[in-house]
Amino acid sequence: MAVYFGADYYPEHWPRERWETDAALMEEMGIDVVRMAEFSWEKMEPREGEFHFEWLKEAITLLAAHGIKTVLGTPTAAPPAWIIEKNPEIQPIDSNGIQHHFGGRHHDCQSNAVYREHIRRFVTKMAETFRDNPNVIGWQIDNELGNSHGDLCFCPSCENRFRDWLREKYGTIDALNKAWGTAFWSQGYSSFEQVQAPKITASGKNPSQMLDWKRFCSDLIVEFQQFQIDIIRSICPPSQFITHNFMGFADKVSYFDLGKSLDFASHDQYPGGYFAQAPHQPNERLAAELDFVRGTKEKNFWIMEQQSGITGWECMGRAPKPGQLSMWSMQSIAHGADTIVYFRWRVCTVGTEQYWHGILPHSGKPGRRYQELKSFIHKVRPLMAEIQGVSPKPDVGIVFSYDQEYAMQIQPHNPELTYIGQVMRYYKGFYKKNIPVDFLSDQGDFSRYKLLIAPLQYLMDPVLEKKYADYVRAGGHLLLTMRTGVKDRNNICMSDRELPGALSEVVGLEVSDYDCLWETSLKVKWGSKEYRAEKWSDIIELKGASSLAECASEFYAGSPAVTVNSYGDGLAYYVGNEPGEELMDRLLEELTEKAGVSPILETPEGVEVMSRRKENTEYIFVLNHTEDTQKLEIPSDWESCLEGQEKELKPFAFQVYVKSV
Ligand code: GAL
Ligand code: ZN
Repeated sequence: MAVYFGADYYPEHWPRERWETDAALMEEMGIDVVRMAEFSWEKMEPREGEFHFEWLKEAITLLAAHGIKTVLGTPTAAPPAWIIEKNPEIQPIDSNGIQHHFGGRHHDCQSNAVYREHIRRFVTKMAETFRDNPNVIGWQIDNELGNSHGDLCFCPSCENRFRDWLREKYGTIDALNKAWGTAFWSQGYSSFEQVQAPKITASGKNPSQMLDWKRFCSDLIVEFQQFQIDIIRSICPPSQFITHNFMGFADKVSYFDLGKSLDFASHDQYPGGYFAQAPHQPNERLAAELDFVRGTKEKNFWIMEQQSGITGWECMGRAPKPGQLSMWSMQSIAHGADTIVYFRWRVCTVGTEQYWHGILPHSGKPGRRYQELKSFIHKVRPLMAEIQGVSPKPDVGIVFSYDQEYAMQIQPHNPELTYIGQVMRYYKGFYKKNIPVDFLSDQGDFSRYKLLIAPLQYLMDPVLEKKYADYVRAGGHLLLTMRTGVKDRNNICMSDRELPGALSEVVGLEVSDYDCLWETSLKVKWGSKEYRAEKWSDIIELKGASSLAECASEFYAGSPAVTVNSYGDGLAYYVGNEPGEELMDRLLEELTEKAGVSPILETPEGVEVMSRRKENTEYIFVLNHTEDTQKLEIPSDWESCLEGQEKELKPFAFQVYVKSV
C-alpha cells in the first residue's frame, strides 16, 4: 500500500466532461489517490433501494487510467432528504429539546435504530459494489465523527441507550445512586427508567452524571463506527483498509477507542483553522495535534485532509503565503504522516464551502497553489518512499486522558483553566526546545520514556496510582501537577487522605490547602529569579520532597510551588500551579537535564525541528515557520536528504537531513 499524495475529489460537483482534465492534471501533479463519495449518498441512492453507483465506478476507472487509486467514504454524515422525509425522527435533538434539521450535514442521530437500518442497507450495497474493484484501496467510515455534535443528541432513542449503558455499567440502581452521590438535592433513583440524559436543567447538574454522559456519547460514536466497520469487513477483502479522519484534539469521542479497530488513523490538518485563528493556528498546536494522532495508535498515520488554500465558510482566513502549504505538508510528514491527501481538489462553486479553497481555484485553471504543491510532491516523493513506517521516537511522553479532560470541562475550577490548555503549556515548552514528544494514553507503556509529563491527573484510581509509582520506582522521571488525585473515577471527591492521595508517597508531599487564582497571578521564586504562575496554587507541605521554587506572593508566600522527590530509582516532580511561559522554560531546563533528554538542534524561534528514526538512521526535518531567512548551524555529520538544499533557510522553507545513529 505505497501511496503518498492525494486529493479529496468530488466529481459529482462538476460536469462529466471535466473529469478527464482533472485526472490528467492530477497525474501531472503527482497525485496517487483520491478520496471520494463521503457526502454523496443522494447521488448513489436517490430513492430508497434505487442505487446509482455507475458515475462513481466511471470516475474510479477514469482516474485509474491515470494511475490514481481511490479511497471511498461511507456517506453517513449526510443522509438524503428522502430519508429525513420518511423518518424525521432520525434528526438529532439538542439539550434544550430542539430538533436540528436537514439543510446542512450531520443531521443524524447516531443511536437511532431506523437510521442504522438505512445505513445497513446502503453500506452493504456500497461494499458489495466495490469489494472487487482493484482500484479501491480502502474505506473511510463517515466523516469526522463527533463534528457538529457540540451537544450530541438527547432524543428519546439516545436517552434509552444511555440507560442501557448505565444498566450494563452499574448492574443495580443502588450502585448508580452510590456512584453518582444522588443523596445530594434529592436526586436518588428507584429505577433506571427515571434516569434522564443531562438535558437543560433549572440549575447546576450532577457532575458524576455528566461524566458518564460524556463517556456514553464517546462509546456511542465508537459503536456507530463499529457498526459500519463490521459490515465492510464482512464483505470486503482485508486488502482494503479502513480508516477514519480524526480532528486532533476534538473532544467528542476518544480517539484511542475510535482508533482501535481501524487499520490506521487519519487526521484533518488545517493550519488556517476555521478562519478565525488569524493568520493561522499556533505552530506548536499544529505539531501537537499531529503527535497526538500518531499517539492514538502509536504508529504513523495519514492526513486525509491537508489544507491547500484559504479556509472559511461564510468568512475567510488569510491566503497561505508562498511556500507555506508545502512547509505545512512537510510538518505533517515530519510528525509521522505517511500519505498526505489535500482538501480539496477544486474549490466548489456551490454550497456551504464555496470559500474553503482547494488546489485549484473556481476557474479550474492550475495556479499558484497547484504549481507549488506539484513541485513539492515531485521533490519529496523519493524521500516518502524511504520513510514509510519510520516514526518519531521521542524520549518524552505526555499522558493524555479524555476522562481528565471531560472532568475538567464539567468543573474547570478556574474559568480560564482547560485541560488542553495545560497540556499545551507543557507541550509548547518542549516544542520550543526542539525536543520531540509522544502523547500516550494512561493505558500506554510508560517505560518507553525517560521523562513522563502527566498534567491534571484529577480522577485517580489505585491501578493508575500504582502505575505511576512503579514507573518512578524503576528509574523514571515523572511530573505530576496541581489537582492530582482529587476524585475517584465516578467524579466524586476523595476524602480518605490529604491530596494527592496515595501518590503523596511518590511526590513526597501533601497539599494541605489551595487557592484558585482567578484574574490574578502568583509570583514564584526559583533561585534568585522571579517568575509567574497562573490559575491555581496548591499550598504544599513537604513530606520528604525538596522544594525547587517557592510561592512569593499571597498569604502562603514561602511555601513550595515546584518540588522534586527521589523515590526508588527515579525522580517525581510536582507543580502546584500552571507555570507561565518563563517558569515553564526554567522547569523544563531542570527536567530535561536530570532526565538526560536533549534537543535535536538549537534553532532560532519559529524554526521547528523534528525527527523520524529507524534502526541506524535518523531523518531530521527542519521547518521555517517564519517570514524571515534563517541561518542555521547544521552539524557536520548530517547529510542533505533533498536536492538543492541551501545553507540558509528561506521564508517558509524546509530542509531534511539524514544521519547515522
Ligand atoms: C472538514 C471536513 C470536510 C470539509 C472541511 C472544510 O472538517 O471533513 O468535509 O468540510 O472541513 O470545511
Ligand atoms: Zn439521538
